[in-house]
Amino acid sequence: MRVKKAVIPAAGLGTRMLPATKSIPKEMLPILDRPAIEIIVNEAIESGIEDILIITNRGKGAIEDYFDFAPDLERSLEKSGKLDTLEKVRYPATCANIYFVRQKETKGLGHAVWCAKEFVGDEPFAVLLGDDIMVGETPVIKQLIDAAEKYNASAVGAQWVSDEAVTKYCSLKIDELENRIYRVSDVIEKPPIEKKYSNYAILGRYVLTPEIFDILEKTPPGAGGEIQLTDGLNSLCKVADMVAVDFDAKRYDTGNLIGFMETTLEFGLKHPEVGPWLREYIANMK
Ligand code: G1P
Repeated sequence: MRVKKAVIPAAGLGTRMLPATKSIPKEMLPILDRPAIEIIVNEAIESGIEDILIITNRGKGAIEDYFDFAPDLERSLEKSGKLDTLEKVRYPATCANIYFVRQKETKGLGHAVWCAKEFVGDEPFAVLLGDDIMVGETPVIKQLIDAAEKYNASAVGAQWVSDEAVTKYCSLKIDELENRIYRVSDVIEKPPIEKKYSNYAILGRYVLTPEIFDILEKTPPGAGGEIQLTDGLNSLCKVADMVAVDFDAKRYDTGNLIGFMETTLEFGLKHPEVGPWLREYIANMK
């Protein structure tokens, strides 16, 4: 199994970050000087992915502009000798083959992934959710690709989360196969706590086989009245092997205010120029 394609759903409304996301796609909110989606795209590239499809929606044009050239800006940077900045500005337009498709109706994550059917064709593919930024030594989607290849199965990225988080995310029924890798036999989206299988929840990363498309086509709306990817996965794991990888990385949820602040702060602390200043600033803050 070789995974060459990735899908990044970026069609959500970003309601937890309003009012900023009224006119800025949430995926374009900056983590320091880069939009969050560039960090996700880099994770895919560092994992050997060559083709990336971003699923957009109305009002997400800024994402397409970002991954395009900006000839006037580039000329002006070149003329003024700002070559470092020029390189950063050109990077998104040259870093990978990036394609776009619109999810014309907001019908949920399962439906957004289904919109990738033509792009994906008959190959396994990766899915990276834009809200979840991962920082680890090995890119998380690479950890999943390795497990998917080893077990010839689809793979989901999971971590142990609190009871409160299980009800907001999803819950996996799993049996251990080896250290940090489990076989998945059931998964439920946003369960009430008495219906949880375990405290392991899927967190934003998937390697899926193309059977998921026929399944999603038949999946009725679930939690929140939306077509849920998790419901599709629950059907997929009944007919084909699926593993959960307890991935080795820290996950940041940039889709809400506190998660966004945590990401900005920690990326700031690690940044070579901003970091030393930020530490001193915090230490001296009244
Ligand atoms: C989505 C998925 C859910 C997953 C979560 C965290 O939920 O539907 O299964 O656990 O992302 O990655 P959302 O945060 O969009 O409600």
